[in-house]
Amino acid sequence: MVGIGPKRPRSRKGSFADVPQNLLAEIKHFEDIFTVGAAKLKQVSDHFVKELEKGLSVEGGNIPMNVTWVMGYPDGDEKGTFLALDMGGTNMRVCEIILGEEKGSFDIIQSKYRMPEELKTGTAEELWEYIADCLKQFIEYHHENQELSKLPLGFTFSYPATQDYIDHGILQRWTKGFDIDGVEGQDVVPPLEAVLKKRGLPIKIAALINDTTGTLIASNYTDPEMKIGCIFGTGVNAAYMENVGSVPKIAHMGLPPDMPVAINCEYGAFDNEHIVLPLTKYDHIIDRDSPRPGQQAFEKMTAGLYLGEIFRLALLDLLECQPGLIFKGQDTSKLEKPYILDASVLACIEEDPYENLLETRDVIEKSLGIQPTQAELEMIRRLAELIGTRAARLSACGVAAICKKKNIQSCHVGADGSVFTKYPHFKARGAQALREILDWAPDEKDKVSIMAAEDGSGVGAALIAALTLKRFKAGNLAGIRDMGSMKTLV
Ligand code: GLC
Repeated sequence: MVGIGPKRPRSRKGSFADVPQNLLAEIKHFEDIFTVGAAKLKQVSDHFVKELEKGLSVEGGNIPMNVTWVMGYPDGDEKGTFLALDMGGTNMRVCEIILGEEKGSFDIIQSKYRMPEELKTGTAEELWEYIADCLKQFIEYHHENQELSKLPLGFTFSYPATQDYIDHGILQRWTKGFDIDGVEGQDVVPPLEAVLKKRGLPIKIAALINDTTGTLIASNYTDPEMKIGCIFGTGVNAAYMENVGSVPKIAHMGLPPDMPVAINCEYGAFDNEHIVLPLTKYDHIIDRDSPRPGQQAFEKMTAGLYLGEIFRLALLDLLECQPGLIFKGQDTSKLEKPYILDASVLACIEEDPYENLLETRDVIEKSLGIQPTQAELEMIRRLAELIGTRAARLSACGVAAICKKKNIQSCHVGADGSVFTKYPHFKARGAQALREILDWAPDEKDKVSIMAAEDGSGVGAALIAALTLKRFKAGNLAGIRDMGSMKTLV
């Protein structure tokens, strides 16, 4: 975008000189409700540690702490060709990954498909058929007339799933705005395999994985310092490696206590009880009007899916409760439409380099059909900053909690997702929050550093499929169901 006017210094506080007193008071109110200080971050993180523990117990808690049956990190001799199917929150991706001879090396080809919005609230059949169609298109292009029954598929299904085995997964509940009847409480592997078979694709799912687990494994494959895999995108979540002995809910299986097992935390569900999170009335509205009220409390304050909606609700509140204060004489009807603004609008506002907030004006006009005054633009900029900063600071609590729980003093954290990769200042704000929570001395370098991950949902899925086959071959059968299929694949 082309703009006129001087560029703003990077971290300018905002120029409120010309903002009228009554609007300033509202900005101050937003600052009060959206700012999360160090003491609160620590309180949230401490409660988070307890909730992680609870999720591993037999009784369970809000955070599912799902056992993934990924029993350790790759050692580098994983080789072969794999398919990966990535069903995230926004896109569908089909990949073919060739794990190479050298440790950490791989080749990938992929096709990406935007998931139609209506699919998210459609029928189960429509979902499985859509996925099968994407896969079929990919196969026809890259593997026409080839034998497919020996090509293992890693299915990245990034929703909470109970796994008694790595090659199945019962959807606990939909997250990220999905609401498809008849899938919750069901194993998602058989219906997908059935549709594939119907389409003439005899492909076997060697592993069902979560994007965070894939991120953990793919990141560790190229950097062994990576001990946590995180997604900050449409949803938020993390995975890390636990010892079987620290997971009381699988004690009955009698596995060696020092055996590693990756845990998909599903910590978007942290504090569903609303004990510690600093919720605003906008967070309550988002929850109330979502397809699954009472679920994903932490995610609803921090994930990309919700940032634009929090912003919209705050503006709408100002418009309705203080008549005439903002957007006087403008058509504000678009502001009434839920989810009309996505996180990219906030990102664009926060990125606006111009003193006169020209790009902010543009994006507000384009998305809402409103032409804000200069004072309103300053308010809008500050509001975006507050919501983006709150999300980044709260996000750090999950990472800090895993470090505290595992007594990790220093490590790398592999992170992916649109908010992490595209939202301005997210990384720096998260790093600052970690520093405050973990009490590093001002002259100390970051001991836990959150960095860009390898492609977890593609390469990670392939690696996990490879690890599973390797384990099967070695006779370590914990968490493997379909021995017949595994035999065909090895
Ligand atoms: C949601 C899903 C979780 C996923 C995360 C990031 O929280 O429930 O499985 O890892 O989004 O995509």
